[in-house]
Amino acid sequence: MAKKITVLNGPNLNFLGRREPAIYGRETLKDIENMTRECARSHGFDVDFLQSNCEGELVGFIQAAIGESVAIIINPAAYSHTSIAILDALKMFEGVVVEVHLSNIHKRETYRHHSFVSERADAVIAGCGSDGYRFAVEYIVQHDL
Ligand code: DQA
Repeated sequence: MAKKITVLNGPNLNFLGRREPAIYGRETLKDIENMTRECARSHGFDVDFLQSNCEGELVGFIQAAIGESVAIIINPAAYSHTSIAILDALKMFEGVVVEVHLSNIHKRETYRHHSFVSERADAVIAGCGSDGYRFAVEYIVQHDL
């Protein structure tokens, strides 16, 4: 059975393509899902690709990945800057964690400069747009598990 990568997307990312395209681009979350699946498949990984606008649901997705997935790629969106619950859930996960942001959060408002999730992330990718998801898969492949 192929190893699995769980890809998690936080609030408002379901509106990608329509949401502030000057910042987040014109690609939809479905486009990003297809590209991520394709990249992972080419390296022999299966993908669970999920989105939620709810913090508790994202915590549930992380818990469900424990013992099931070898890695989590997470764009926690606004919860990056607020959520200790998501950080705590990620601390229970033993695989690789890669945090992805489409935009360069360090170039934006100061309240986006700190991410609680980064304390657990093995790698953080910001400002590469949708390519960040592909780079995250490649990082996981390099640090094989
Ligand atoms: C984001 C950056 C966050 O600050 C923001 O709240 C998002 C998206 C990004 O992908 O650039 O929703 O995580």
